[in-house]
Amino acid sequence: NTPDAHVPRDPRLIRLTGTHPFNCEAPLTALMREGFLTSPELFFVRNHGPVPHVPDAAILDWEFTVDGLVDAPLRLTLRALLAEHEVHTYPITLVCAGNRRKEQNQVRKSNGFSWGPAGVSTALFTGVAMADVIRRARPQNRARYVCMEGADTLPNGHYGTCVKLSWVLDPNRGIMLAHEMNFQRLRPDHGRPLRAVIPGQIGGRSVKWLKRLIVTDAPSDNWYHIYDNRVLPTMVSPDVAANEPKWWTDERYAIYDLSPNSAIASPAHGETLSLVGAAESYCAKGYAYSGGGRRVTRVEVSLDQGGTWRLATVNYDEDKYRERDFHWRDTSFCWCLWTIDLPVQDIAAAKDLMVRCMDEGMCAQPRDMYWNVLGMMNNPWFRVAVHKEG
Ligand code: MTE
Repeated sequence: NTPDAHVPRDPRLIRLTGTHPFNCEAPLTALMREGFLTSPELFFVRNHGPVPHVPDAAILDWEFTVDGLVDAPLRLTLRALLAEHEVHTYPITLVCAGNRRKEQNQVRKSNGFSWGPAGVSTALFTGVAMADVIRRARPQNRARYVCMEGADTLPNGHYGTCVKLSWVLDPNRGIMLAHEMNFQRLRPDHGRPLRAVIPGQIGGRSVKWLKRLIVTDAPSDNWYHIYDNRVLPTMVSPDVAANEPKWWTDERYAIYDLSPNSAIASPAHGETLSLVGAAESYCAKGYAYSGGGRRVTRVEVSLDQGGTWRLATVNYDEDKYRERDFHWRDTSFCWCLWTIDLPVQDIAAAKDLMVRCMDEGMCAQPRDMYWNVLGMMNNPWFRVAVHKEG
């Protein structure tokens, strides 16, 4: 009987950290079969501790506060939030900063558990612009950050982190307080009844079970903000990290925007391709994303370890929603799905398949891994070995 006995979970999810807390990803092929939007049951989960239990009848009575450097502190229920503010819906891709960490752990063990490449999912999130609530609380001139705190009780206090106030106030950043995913109430694992969603940034900033917004003049001093979701310099080993606190308190190492990343779903790792007597071409598939609202503008595939590259077709389903929503921004907050038809004789002759992407800032995935003690933001070219029948 774990503390999460009340939480429904899909048996297709792969558990990454034993029974508790719950951390999981879908098999990549199942995730890609879902297409652009992930059903909430298959959406990856990253919990640091037990999931707060909020019975259905108590959802609208959920209270959260806004305080700190504000002239008009607020205490609001979810009911009041939804009644008093405009509600929007748009698609957002969330990505754990540990996505693809397993590859780092294979090279050298990091302090984090092994995510495959499915620590990423996309949903339509419905909620209120965080800016509307923060403006209503009237931030003071010195205010620079919005800290967030969840209701989950953890060994080092509540989970918490922060974003810059200027981002919260920028409509092109799309930062929201969400209560629904794909037009269903948030599931318990995803922050029921209320969470922050910070598009274009690592999932770790999107605080679930949101209880408190604190406006401050300095970054969050929450334990989880300081000791999680950072890319420390590569020479900081687990030993050094444990013994030299100075590495943790340098806010320059805190991760916010996602960086360009991609993965190949077909062929899958370990899949044997039957190419004999098959069609003339093989369709390889996968996903790509970038951060900070920048869209992926090219995806390239190599059959010769990066000697030469071919352009894949990039499908931006996000645009379908953009056309429908009057309030849409200039920015992109979703992954794209890519495909490429490869001549069968080319893939039959290849040892492996590699993919890399570039975003509109011409920022490309690196060839080499940047190992770091927390195993964060792993994004070198993604490789799948080609196994053929016969
Ligand atoms: N918020 C709270 N309160 N507690 C948590 O453990 N985990 C964070 C973030 N928000 C977390 C949290 C991390 S590290 C990630 S990647 C995302 O939630 C994962 O969101 P999801 O589980 O809905 O996919």
